[in-house]
Amino acid sequence: MSAALAAAGLGIRRGGRWLVRGLDWELRPGELVAITGASGCGKSSLLTVLAGLAPPDEGTVERPLPLALALQDHGLPGDLSLEQAVRCGDLPLTPWWRSWWVLPQAGRARARAALDRLGLAAQARRKVRHCSGGERQRAALARLMQRDAPVWLADEPVANLDQGNAERALDLLRAAARAGRAVAVVLHQDDLARSCDRILRLGGASDELAA
Ligand SMILES: Nc1ncnc2c1ncn2[C@@H]1O[C@H](COP(=O)(O)OP(=O)(O)OP(=O)(O)O)[C@@H](O)[C@H]1O
Ligand SMILES: [Mg+2]
Repeated sequence: MSAALAAAGLGIRRGGRWLVRGLDWELRPGELVAITGASGCGKSSLLTVLAGLAPPDEGTVERPLPLALALQDHGLPGDLSLEQAVRCGDLPLTPWWRSWWVLPQAGRARARAALDRLGLAAQARRKVRHCSGGERQRAALARLMQRDAPVWLADEPVANLDQGNAERALDLLRAAARAGRAVAVVLHQDDLARSCDRILRLGGASDELAA
């Protein structure tokens, strides 16, 4: 199957050193790929370049638009409820004349369903700043997961979660991939990475099949 996102000869340079160089890599529809590597090796930098938030220093990235990205520092606005914060994920696709305050009912239902899938139905109306770190992280994932984009990129979306919630979140991402999306997720937990279809290991051997 043809790639949903493709990097060719990709080089990323930060602070006077190459984090990534000569990377040829594809993300295909239907697969869940883990991106791993030691802290500081360049995973977040790679994701921002793949998403188009920063330009490559070498090489090219071909990507579809829209594309959904969940940043490591998700920055959900503290004064919004979880449901409102999740619905902000629709903003890039909302015409200026229809602010998110009046998004159609379908947007609300989608946000509620995404929160529900991550075990946050009861917290939907709670303000972000009154939620725990893990609840905020799951809400950030819900915001990603209600986006109807062919490519989802998530930077450490389960870093603050207990094993059960982390596995549940990964299962949801895997199900989305099986439904045809191309999903890449930065992970530090080896067992979770091995449960993905493929691993892109930065700062070492490049691309390998998960066990
Ligand atoms: N704009 C910048 N200027 C200088 N150095 C930078 C810049 N952006 C990133 N770096 C450095 O590049 C390295 C890679 O950062 P990055 O955030 O991509 O790492 P990471 O693999 O995501 O780490 P972590 O697992 O801790 O999130 C770090 O050493 C970081 O300090
Ligand atoms: Mg990072």
